[in-house]
Amino acid sequence: MALDRSNPVPNDLSAFWMPFTANRQFKKAPRMLVSADRMHYRTADGREVLDGTAGLWCCNAGHNRPKIVEAIRQQAGELDYAPAFQMGHPKAFELANRLRDMAPAPMEHVFFTNSGSESVETALKIAIAYQRAIGQASRTRLIGRERGYHGVNFGGISVGGIVNNRKFFGSLLTGVDHLPHTHLPGQNAFSRGQPEHGGNLADELERIVALHGPETIAAVIVEPVAGSTGVLIPPKGYLQRLRELTRKHGILLIFDEVITGFGRLGAPFAADYFDVMPDMIVCAKGLTNGVIPMGAVLATKEIHDAFMGGPEHVIELFHGYTYSGNPIASAAGIATLETYKEEGLFERAAEIAPYWEDALHSLKGLPHVIDIRNLGLIGGVELEPIAGEPTKRAFTAFLEAYDRNVLIRTTGDIIAMSPPLIIEKGHIDTLIGTLADVLRKLH
Ligand SMILES: Cc1ncc(COP(=O)(O)O)c(C=O)c1O
Repeated sequence: MALDRSNPVPNDLSAFWMPFTANRQFKKAPRMLVSADRMHYRTADGREVLDGTAGLWCCNAGHNRPKIVEAIRQQAGELDYAPAFQMGHPKAFELANRLRDMAPAPMEHVFFTNSGSESVETALKIAIAYQRAIGQASRTRLIGRERGYHGVNFGGISVGGIVNNRKFFGSLLTGVDHLPHTHLPGQNAFSRGQPEHGGNLADELERIVALHGPETIAAVIVEPVAGSTGVLIPPKGYLQRLRELTRKHGILLIFDEVITGFGRLGAPFAADYFDVMPDMIVCAKGLTNGVIPMGAVLATKEIHDAFMGGPEHVIELFHGYTYSGNPIASAAGIATLETYKEEGLFERAAEIAPYWEDALHSLKGLPHVIDIRNLGLIGGVELEPIAGEPTKRAFTAFLEAYDRNVLIRTTGDIIAMSPPLIIEKGHIDTLIGTLADVLRKLH
């Protein structure tokens, strides 16, 4: 394939301080993507790379989708920006309606943000303010979970449970506690779908409630399926039990669906898939197919209406972003939801998930593979770490796969995959076949 001359790579890479990246290593051997179409990226050196990760779990409809591209083009020429506070524009209302119609029935209201991290902060703030609005002002504590990932802002890293995301940043929020994680490789290794063991770990909430008193706790936030910590599938019964206990103690339940939203499990949201209804759903990524930054918090009528009691001229929630419901993001969101619907992509994900599961579990027995986990179009392959050099083995697998024209992702020594929902069986064969080759040769 010819070099793409329309996207020359600058000689100087020093100015851009890259996020969550080993900057010095990257800049010595850059991996530059210059264009993308459907299931593939094109690299600066002219290779086509199969996207096994939907970008960063966000391009659920694949890349360069005409309807989304056109909607953005049109919107930019029609209304580029409108003030987000005390003013409105039609597309934000339209997108909110469509999101409400797609979301589980109790989710009747939508607050727009620009990312998963901002959606998390928004949901946590709404939870505390809601408790106050209903006369429960002592409920300010937030409960997260070990190994949880809720973005990188202060609220999110406080309720999150990934040590490197927390330990460099001071004392974080006060009044936070954590449930234990549910990763039990000793009992659950190589489970297909939801693991059998660990549902009882939700009962640990009782211990936390007993320690602090239920009247101090505002909300519990969890990822229904944890992604960034290495694909942790909830054990059978776990989410149901968490819902029972939060309800029993007057605690709100927030699902962080930044990666599970928009069809990843073959249903619109994980709340639908597991048939467990939280009080708020946090989403982002797939909302605009990753094309324009946008996030949202979906909330029940009960939560929304609790804020609507004061004088009508007074702002009800002192929260919002300059770009909340940005016109171009809203247009992209509408076109994205239409694309999902017209192409039946959520149903497609459900249909192809068994093939994905079989392909993934065919890696069992290859060198260093100590666990394989899957649900919907999510897959995790855990490798035995190299003694004294954690993360190195999986990262080497990532580099080797990229050299062989396949994009995967790693976190710790876990390979995480989450392809676009338009993936075909042939792509799955290439993705898993290439990974198998890589694993066979890996030291
Ligand atoms: C569960 C979860 N929450 C929050 C976030 C943060 O989203 P963003 O990077 O858009 O801020 C992510 C990102 O991967 C995520 O997986």
